[in-house]
Amino acid sequence: MSISSPTGNRDQLANDQQRLTIQDLSDPQVTVSANEGSDLIAGLTQRQKTIPCHYLYDDRGSEIFEQICELPEYYPTRTEAEILEANGSAIAQTTGPCELIELGSGSSTKTRLLFDSYDNLGYPLRYVPIDVSAGMLEASAKELLRDYPTLKIYGLVGTYEQALQHLPPSPLPKQMVFFLGSSLGNFAPKQCQEIFRQITASLNPGDYFLLGLDLQKSKDILEPAYNDSQGITAEFNYNLLDHLNRRFQGNFNRQNFQHWTFYNSELGQIETYLRSTQAQTVELKALDLTVELDAGEAIRTEISRKFDLPTMKKELSQEGLEVLNTWQDSQNWFALILCQISK
Ligand SMILES: C[S@@+](CC[C@H](N)C(=O)[O-])C[C@H]1O[C@@H](n2cnc3c(N)ncnc32)[C@H](O)[C@@H]1O
Repeated sequence: MSISSPTGNRDQLANDQQRLTIQDLSDPQVTVSANEGSDLIAGLTQRQKTIPCHYLYDDRGSEIFEQICELPEYYPTRTEAEILEANGSAIAQTTGPCELIELGSGSSTKTRLLFDSYDNLGYPLRYVPIDVSAGMLEASAKELLRDYPTLKIYGLVGTYEQALQHLPPSPLPKQMVFFLGSSLGNFAPKQCQEIFRQITASLNPGDYFLLGLDLQKSKDILEPAYNDSQGITAEFNYNLLDHLNRRFQGNFNRQNFQHWTFYNSELGQIETYLRSTQAQTVELKALDLTVELDAGEAIRTEISRKFDLPTMKKELSQEGLEVLNTWQDSQNWFALILCQISK
């Protein structure tokens, strides 16, 4: 057992701080495109009202998402972890020493499986977590520094788009952007294409992209994953309203909405909504926005597309992302695809 003195703790803290930089890109003074709330105004003034799903993730939303990951119905997290655990060392051996850049890092729990693989091969650990959820990014980074004594972290708080335009210079010969949890599924096909383009533009030829994808499967498995028996996913959806109220001086009343989610088999996607239980007017004062809702009208808060692996592999190669390898779990529910930016 080791007992550390208060001085030891202070030294440890100073050492951890030297290995951590966090840059907030959501500040309009840093990022010109960070016109806060403009995407929300665009979504809420369309015929089919939508709220961009990154607003699900304030600190509380990120905490609830961690609870979702533990739910028996929510198979994606443990399934993807199974693939990473079995194949992390094959990924590290393929890329060699590499800066690890994660889109939507959240708690970085699964990322630890990659760190272990790179660490076992004696590769330096340098990590660029990217997330809109500042509190979660900072708390996770501090835990990682404690557990990986050689790890260096440069965190970026902001959207994927903002962060990909502001990647710090890498001290390592290669970089790998990775996008886990099938978060790509939150985007419509055109937006996915745009994200692939932003990724290839931000990397060099020969760099890597690792993508985790939830595959198409029976709606009997899909629907409970987004509407669990304990109501945690519903709470995640309602929390969005509290977040918007706080951030944009809004007056959404969560009692006037119902969580509603289903698998749209034609489009191959889970769709999640907040359905207004009555005709109502909502204001978001900070955005100077008034939203009229009819009784029964539903605001779409998330899509979660389910993918066909051969189709996605074709799309990736059309975007200059050469597929090097794919791995699946024992039930073929989820896939990890490792690509290289064409030379
Ligand atoms: C579904 S969670 C996945 C977390 C983790 N990667 C995993 O696989 O468990 C999505 C994460 O991405 C973040 N996020 C969502 N939309 C984002 C966006 N447009 N830009 C940056 N981060 C985003 C959220 O805050 C959250 O931490």
